[in-house]
Formats: sequence, C-alpha cells, structure tokens
Amino acid sequence: MIDLSQQATTLQLDHDLPEYPPMEPGYRRAPRRESHLTEADKALAIKNALRYIHPDHHARMAREFAQELEEHGRIYGYRFRPAGKIYGKPIDAYKGNCIEGRAIQVMIDNNLDFDVALYPYELTTYGETGQVCQNWMQYRLIKKYLEALTDEQTLVVMSGHPLGLFRSHRLAPRVIITNGLMVGTFDDQENFNRAAALGVANYGQMTAGGWMYIGPQGIVHGTFNTLLNAGRLKLGIPNDKNLAGKLFISAGLGGMSGAQGKAAMIAGAASIIAEVDDSRIDTRFTQGWVSHRTADLGEALRIALDHRKAGEPCAVAYNGNIVDLLEYLYEQDVHVDLMSDQTSCHVPYDGGYCPQGLTFAQRTEMLDKDPETFRTWVDRSLHHHYEMICRFHEKGTYFFDYGNSFLKAVYDSGVRSVCKNGENDLDGFVFPSYVEDILGPQLFDFGYGPFRWCCLSRNPEDLDRTDAAAAEYIKSHNRRYQDYDNYVWVRDAKKNKLVVGTQCRILYQDAMGRMNIALKFNEMVRNGQIGPVILGRDHHDTGGTDAPFRETSNIKDGSNIMADMATQCYAGNAARGMSYIALHNGGGTGIGRAVNGGFGMVLDGSERVDTILRMAMPWDTMVGVARRSWARNENAMATAAEYNRMNAGTDHITMPFVADDALVAQALKAVKA
Ligand SMILES: NC(=O)c1ccc[n+]([C@@H]2O[C@H](COP(=O)([O-])OP(=O)(O)OC[C@H]3O[C@@H](n4cnc5c(N)ncnc54)[C@H](O)[C@@H]3O)[C@@H](O)[C@H]2O)c1
Repeated sequence: MIDLSQQATTLQLDHDLPEYPPMEPGYRRAPRRESHLTEADKALAIKNALRYIHPDHHARMAREFAQELEEHGRIYGYRFRPAGKIYGKPIDAYKGNCIEGRAIQVMIDNNLDFDVALYPYELTTYGETGQVCQNWMQYRLIKKYLEALTDEQTLVVMSGHPLGLFRSHRLAPRVIITNGLMVGTFDDQENFNRAAALGVANYGQMTAGGWMYIGPQGIVHGTFNTLLNAGRLKLGIPNDKNLAGKLFISAGLGGMSGAQGKAAMIAGAASIIAEVDDSRIDTRFTQGWVSHRTADLGEALRIALDHRKAGEPCAVAYNGNIVDLLEYLYEQDVHVDLMSDQTSCHVPYDGGYCPQGLTFAQRTEMLDKDPETFRTWVDRSLHHHYEMICRFHEKGTYFFDYGNSFLKAVYDSGVRSVCKNGENDLDGFVFPSYVEDILGPQLFDFGYGPFRWCCLSRNPEDLDRTDAAAAEYIKSHNRRYQDYDNYVWVRDAKKNKLVVGTQCRILYQDAMGRMNIALKFNEMVRNGQIGPVILGRDHHDTGGTDAPFRETSNIKDGSNIMADMATQCYAGNAARGMSYIALHNGGGTGIGRAVNGGFGMVLDGSERVDTILRMAMPWDTMVGVARRSWARNENAMATAAEYNRMNAGTDHITMPFVADDALVAQALKAVKA
C-alpha cells in the first residue's frame, strides 16, 4: 500500500522517537479511566494512536500504546511528553510566525504547569478529567503547527487533534477548537468514555481544553462573589459588610475547589474545607490558600469556632471525608451558616467523589480493581451525604449546589426526593444551584462575568500596571455594589497573592467594562507601558455556557434545555475575529449536560485589535444578557434596555412583552370551561 502521508506531509512529529522521559515522583497521577473496549475497539485505539507515528516505529509503539491502554484506560503517549518542567514561559521564548501562535503556546504550557495542572502527566488541568488535549503526540504536533501558523491561516483542533492549517485572513481566528461535541443519540458518558479511549474525544472541561486556565485564582473571584452575595441574600449581611462571624463548610481543595478556602478568607468567613487527598492540602497550604490543616475533627472545629467568635477569617483544611465532617458537626450541634460541596460530582464514578468509608488510596485501588462495587459505595455515600445536608437545612443552614452537579449526582444515585417535582430533574432540585439564586440574578443578568487576562511577558510589573488601570476604570464607573466589590477585588488582588503560574488576573466585569478595560490595555501595549497581553474568560459566564443545572439554571422560559446561546456566542466570536475560540461538550457539569465556549484575544497594541475589541467584546457578553432578557429576567431586561439606548443605531436587542400571570391563568380557565 502506498503511504500517502509520507509524500504529502511536511508537518509531523520528528522521525526519531524521543527518549522515554523520567516521571518525577510525588506528582498526582490520574486514576485508570473507564472504557469497556472490545478487542476490536482496542485494536482501533492503537491504530488511531499510531497515526501520529512514523511506520518505522509502529512495532515498538503499538506495544507501548497497548500497555498504556491496559494500565490507564487511555493512550497518553507518555514517551512524547517533553522531559522536565513545563510552564508558560515569557512569550519571547517561543518560536512562531505570528504573535498569536506564540501567545497560544504560553497558554497551553501554563495549563500543563506542574504548579497548575491536576494530573500534569495525563495532560489534565482541572476538574478530574479536563484535558488540554488527549495525548502528548497531539501536544507536540499542536506546537509545531502553532510555530508554523501565519496570520493568514487558521489552525483547526478537534478534540485535541490538530486537523490542519487552512488559509483564512488577518481578521479571522488563528485557532478554532472544539472538544467532545457528540451527536445527540450518543451524547452520554458511556459513549464518551469509549470515544475517549479510542482517542477521538477530549474532555475539555472549560478552560482546560479552551487553553485559558489561570490556576484556581480563576474561580476565587466567583467563589468570593457567591459567598458574599449568599451572605447578603440569605443571612441579611449589609452591602458594606463581609462574612465576619459566619461559618462556611464545604469539600474539595483540588483544581478549582482549591479556591474555596481563599475566597472564604477574603470574604471574611471562618471555614472548614474537607479534602480526602493530603497532597492537595499540601499544595493549598504551601500556597497560603488555607490557613490551617489537620486530620482531627475536634481540632478543625475548635480553630473554626475560635475564629468565628473573634470575627476573624480562617480556612481550615480537614484531611478527611466531608460526610464524616458533617456527621461530627451535627453531633456537636454546630450552627453552620453557609454550606456547599465542590467534589468532582460531574464524574462521581470516575473518581470525582470519594465515598465515605474509603480513604483516598482505597478509593483509587477500588476504582482500578472493582469499579462496579465502587459505584455502590458512591451511591450509598451520596444518599447519606444528602441526608446530612437536609438535616442541616432544617436547622437553618443555607446550602447551595456549587456547580459540580452534586444534586444531579444525588438524583442519578436514585434519590427522587431531591427533585423539585419529586419525580425527575426537569424542574431542577430542591436546593438551588448558586447560579439560580445568586450568581445568575445578581451578576450574569447584568453581564458581570469572569473576564481575565494574562501578561505574556510573565513580568509581575505588567500585572501591577494592568491591575492599576482596571481599578482606575472601575472606580470612575461605580454604579452599583457589584462595581464596588470588583473594585475592592482588583485593588487588593496583589496583596491576596492570587497568582499561580503565569501572571494572570481574573476580574468580574460587565460588557462595557470588559470592552473599555480591554481597549485601555491595548493602548498600554501600543505605548510600550506593558508587554503583550492575552484576554479571555471562563466559559462559566453570562453568554458562554448553556447548562440547565448550572449557568442557565435561572432561565425559566423553558429554553434552559437549549444550547443555542453558547453556540451563537462562539460563532459570533469567530465572525468578529477573536484570536482563538473554543466550543465544548460537558464543562463543569458533565457530558451531555452543557455546551460551553470561550475565547482568547491577543492584544498587540494594533488598531486592528481595537476594531475587533469594539465588535467582539460587547457581543461575547450581550448575547447572554439578551437571551436572559428574553427569558424575562428582570435585571437582564433592564441591562438590555440600557444597552439599546446606549447603542442606538448600531445594536438592538429584542425586548419581551411580559404577560400577566393572572391573565394567562384566566385564559386557560376560560378555554377549559
Ligand atoms: N462553580 C464553578 O464555577 C465551578 C468551576 C469549575 C469547576 N466546577 C466543578 O467543581 C468540581 C470540582 O472541580 P475541581 O477542579 O476542584 O476538581 P478536582 O477533582 O481537582 O477537586 C475535587 C476534590 O474533591 C476531593 N474529594 C472528592 N470526594 C471527596 C469527599 N467525599 N470528601 C472530601 N474531599 C473529596 C478530591 O480529592 C479532589 O481534590 C467539578 O465538578 C467541577 O466541574 C465548578
């Protein structure tokens, strides 16, 4: 057979195999992933992986891949991982034919930094399964493409696989990414697991496969906002006060959940966060993101109560299971003000949730040896966990689902009473998701969302200058308490030591805030005050994600099961020239439960970038506000009306007429009669 690839490919992995790099001990490793492959599937998976490899090495690599598939349930191509530390170097250290090609390499490497990534050897950035791409062959090939990319081409990346470079134009995106998008009938976890094991599907989570993760800082701001606003709405805290004297209990100190202790401390609360994996406590403790650590329940409680009494903030990492902690607090009759959970319940049976009664090591072993029994342990633990939460709720605790599909996992484990309608999940759950009650109405409906930027020079002084410019802008546009919160956040950001990895910042902003700050930064790049910057956001945003159990849980017009908005947002960002754009299945809530997208935009100081920012930044957010307004969300309607007034002649959002409930009820009654 003539091997056409040999004749027509100029961009491929180097012919010689790299030396197998040593794996440094002490780094977290992903558990074996579920796949259920037939023998024919296994052969297909190996053939798929060999597509990246020169035939001279097929015999050797086929065996190596077969071994990896057997041991890990996936082919990661460990041999192709560059030896040593990967991190987001200053942009000048990267090769490339255009600034975007080099900037995107910084972002990819930042997502794989040992200090940032959850399972760096398995290319997993956060959220238990969220990967940059599927394997190290793809990583190497993507880099080669990014080095070759010109500003008149677009690189297409499908579930981590670089499909190729195609001609486009200067104002088009340089990279277009999709991750894990599945055809409806097959859009479930089982089919996804098989596809991932075959090497044709990547779980991008949100910013993992969208190459815009900035360490747990990315979620600290959102968690801070959520906790503070929960306090305002449910505990009667005035707008100018914080959570001093209040107790917050949750679980998880991993990739994103690691933000909980820090956010609670910034918000002034006393908190205990349970975490079964001691290595994650190590990380958060070394970073100063938790203030105390202990494996003793009594000690954890003593520290938290002392701080609560003194009105001082603390974050106690309790090394143990959250269900044990809840049982203990209940026995001791402790009043808990706010409660949540951020274990990886979007994949509870893949290791995301450690059941009560198993240590972290036992969980990993059982998952590997007996996944069926593991499922029964998870279900039993979730039932009891939920029961404990209900008991606290009866005593006045405000519990909210923190976007990890916890309540959905409880439902999937067989508990029907968790459903609002007592039967199925169509009307949501008895406890609100944090978006339904807090983040949706208070932030997303206004367009406030997790805008972020990275200083590509890796120079902390660039970050200081951008922080100062952003703070100045917000101070002069202080319209409501959200603006004031954001001002305080960015004013104190440096003091709160939030940076892990590249010099990045998250700052919740609304559409106009994002655009104006972006234009200011581009001007600063133009004037030589700072080096180039890349802008982006979490997919978890006003317009970026359709997810009925999370981001769109406060959409009540029945369209919460539609994924039009995230898709339109992504397409619109492509049309307006964002540097790179991503659209994913799954996100934070799991396969089939969300469609989510994001972008990266490189600021090089040019007029071209100014033009793109003026078109793309308002669109990226206002598509979400417009959709929320059409769903009759009051704050979104007010924001859309203001936008229409401010942009008369260029933009126009369709506004709903709001029907009177009694009138509709009467009409229905009349027809029946
Ligand atoms: N709300 C948001 O904005 C948001 C954003 C990103 C991710 N998420 C979701 O939050 C969840 C966590 O994300 P992550 O990146 O931190 O994941 P992760 O897997 O890195 O961390 C979860 C942590 O929970 C610990 N854990 C599991 N079961 C436990 C138990 N029973 N008791 C105590 N500790 C336990 C694990 O050891 C792990 O360290 C995911 O489901 C993710 O999708 C939410």
